[in-house]
Amino acid sequence: MRQPFIAGNWKMFKTVHEAVVHVKELRSVVKDVEGVDIVVAPTATALHAAAEAARNSNIAVAGQNCHWERDGAFTGEVSAAMVREAGAEYVIVGHSERRTLFGDTDQTVNQRVHAALGADLVPILCVGETLDQRDGGQTLAVLDQQLKRGLDGVSADHVASMVVAYEPVWAIGTGRNATPEQAQEAHAHLRGRLRSWFGADAAERCHVIYGGSVKPANAASLLGQPDIDGALVGGASLDVAGFAQIVRAARLGA
Ligand code: 13P
Repeated sequence: MRQPFIAGNWKMFKTVHEAVVHVKELRSVVKDVEGVDIVVAPTATALHAAAEAARNSNIAVAGQNCHWERDGAFTGEVSAAMVREAGAEYVIVGHSERRTLFGDTDQTVNQRVHAALGADLVPILCVGETLDQRDGGQTLAVLDQQLKRGLDGVSADHVASMVVAYEPVWAIGTGRNATPEQAQEAHAHLRGRLRSWFGADAAERCHVIYGGSVKPANAASLLGQPDIDGALVGGASLDVAGFAQIVRAARLGA
């Protein structure tokens, strides 16, 4: 049985101070919540302070990206080992904003996945089609390619521990979420691929979560789908009360 997994991707929002205030408020609001993995992903500068603020609580932290080399002359980059040392347990890789704005490719996403696993971080691997690809009937082929290449060379044991986030690009930040049926279709497809490539056990244990305009109002219907194991929440995660409502919706849907 997969425990619901709710993560807030703060993107380039919140200073160190704001992050600490947010985590302190959130931990008091969700302190009674059991049976849900609760994760926040602050910016790199706020990662350590947020992890300290979340210490001994039911909230874990995630980095938003990591480089594949351990260290070196890579101005502006942060390694997986550094993200881990800052206190993160998870790291988002291959977010569509990274792919479209910062040149991440399936190959470099795969390198980041391997680096994360090597640094004892759980990768949250993002995949998703654009509106043109959906309209062109290419959704499932795009998902296949991103998933296959992103997980190239990863063991079934590691896949079992990982999180895959289905984030249709057209639903991110647009207020237009995938319908529960559209999302379920994509998630069931992704799980089927995991089953054929990595075996039934890995496919049953791997979390496949949905991201794209998740809000308190639509969370329950999305999270009620059999193959939707949680949510990667952008805008709505910046508000403590709204994010906590989504966490509670996951508990009820479990
Ligand atoms: P929104 O929830 O703001 O659409 O963002 C989703 C997202 O990109 C999470 O990674």
